[in-house]
Amino acid sequence: MNKSEILKKTREFVRKKLEAETTGHDWYHIERVVRNAKLIGKKEKADLFIVELGALLHDIADWKFSKDPNEGTKISTKLLKSLSVPKEIIDQVAYIVQNISFKGGTNKHKMKTVEGGVVQDADRLDALGAIGIARAFAYGGYKHRMIYDPNSKQETSIKHFYDKLLWITDLMNTKVGYKLAVQREKFIKNFLNQFYKEWEGLM
Ligand code: ADP
Ligand code: NI
Repeated sequence: MNKSEILKKTREFVRKKLEAETTGHDWYHIERVVRNAKLIGKKEKADLFIVELGALLHDIADWKFSKDPNEGTKISTKLLKSLSVPKEIIDQVAYIVQNISFKGGTNKHKMKTVEGGVVQDADRLDALGAIGIARAFAYGGYKHRMIYDPNSKQETSIKHFYDKLLWITDLMNTKVGYKLAVQREKFIKNFLNQFYKEWEGLM
């Protein structure tokens, strides 16, 4: 099987699995991450085959919902083996799937491969900007959380901005990823300013 056939089969596999996801890891999240990963990967002179496979498979099992921390790696390895992908490439993709997640901020692993850094940056960008804001409230709603609560320390969607989103920019791996993260973070800060003004009834 050639590379484009392998990518097509992987795409079909992932789309089927994530089509009905509504917690922020739906198929369109994958499509956006693939798109940005390819753009960043080109600039970083990364291996775009590994980048695209890694981006496609990066959320195939979600740590928040799966008991087995190696499930994503297992599913990816099994799929790629069945498509006769060479072992060196499978290992590189499995490394990305295993280490990409932000895990609510507890994953301090620094990616050791260019391709890993590229896919991780593309994934992180999708947690920032207008899309990042939409995803945060979608996830908060799914968890039955309030939008915001000025009087309490309970978990709210707005609190997530301070716990995670505003820390992302400093963690970016690539130059272009960092530049985009700075822009998207600015957008989030503007959003928060406007949010608090409206909350007080000033706008
Ligand atoms: P990753 O795919 O890196 O593991 P997560 O699964 O933690 O990332 O997050 C997926 C999406 O859900 C992101 O857009 C993230 O900001 C959002 N999200 C995760 N945890 C929360 C939370 N506690 N409140 C609001 N949004 C969240
Ligand atoms: Ni993701």
